[in-house]
Amino acid sequence: MNRKAFTLARFITETQAGYPAATGEFSALLVQIGLAGKILTRDLRRAGLLDILGATGETNVQGEAVKKLDTIANETLIKVFQHTGLVCALASEEMEKPLFLSENWPHGKYMLLFDPLDGSSNTDVNMPMGTIFSVLHYEGAAGPAAEDLVRGGTQQVAAGYLMYGSSTVLVFTSGKGAHEFTLDPDLGEYLLSKEGIRMPMKGAVYSANEGNACKWVPGVRRFIDYLKEADKPTARPYTLRYSGCLVADVHRLLTGGGIYLYPAETNKPEGKLRLLYEANPLAMVVEQAGGRASTGVERILAITPEALHQRVPLLIGSGDDVAMAEAFIQGKR
Ligand code: AHG
Ligand code: MN
Ligand code: MN
Repeated sequence: MNRKAFTLARFITETQAGYPAATGEFSALLVQIGLAGKILTRDLRRAGLLDILGATGETNVQGEAVKKLDTIANETLIKVFQHTGLVCALASEEMEKPLFLSENWPHGKYMLLFDPLDGSSNTDVNMPMGTIFSVLHYEGAAGPAAEDLVRGGTQQVAAGYLMYGSSTVLVFTSGKGAHEFTLDPDLGEYLLSKEGIRMPMKGAVYSANEGNACKWVPGVRRFIDYLKEADKPTARPYTLRYSGCLVADVHRLLTGGGIYLYPAETNKPEGKLRLLYEANPLAMVVEQAGGRASTGVERILAITPEALHQRVPLLIGSGDDVAMAEAFIQGKR
């Protein structure tokens, strides 16, 4: 069947049947995420004309400067889920503690964790940004507590991201492949643009903040040096592409393959990125597209998390490229 005119809601109800997340409520939840994406697209398109650029002057729970757009994106996500009956708890990079939406309970059994604005250093320079989301299902009877949101990545019932680039795309998986929808700005609808994304097993692109190379653990430095050597049969040297937005860099890898790294540093073994709302959801998408996501020594989705805002080293992308990086980090090469 030609699914090119499939909207998000129709795609979920007609093609995801039989999967745990494939309910009318799940479809409504994704439509609400799409709505947040439309609102943020509208804001970002005219950001330079409004007073929404720059920093708020505050720091978040991660100790990072909060941009005005970080706050706007966070509030947008909260607003679109209040009084919907869809989710009972929200957790975000910009909130120290989860927000329990008691008005949605007991009907709404989904819990949503998100990075409202990924790549927020790009806000003031008209570069790509994203929103990352992870969906969990709460099975208890009493209503969730904070620890119920701290779960391993294999327990995600769905995950994905919005990317605000030259177009706005929504990529999601509910465990049955990864699919891309593109926002048609005239229709105001997300239409299916790629079904069952398969990424190459190997690419020739690496994405990393190489300015930090002096801080990286030695295996990572050796790996990147290896990628920069000339050897045509192995596609080396690799090309460097780094946007400052994890979503945009991973999105590129989904099409052309390669590897993104934000690795462990000698003095910061935990890395920078957050496990529950950055690494886990992107790992689920990438694995569903045939790729791999790792800390260098462990599969991201297999980590048992201990805290909501826990950080993790991240290597993500084509299976062969990530496996090669692991071999260097583990001293096997
Ligand atoms: P966020 O904007 O949500 O804090 O995430 C930024 C992340 C990621 O998107 C990006 O790849 C990386 O941090 C950039 O960090 P550096 O500026 O240290 O390279
Ligand atoms: Mn981020
Ligand atoms: Mn962010």
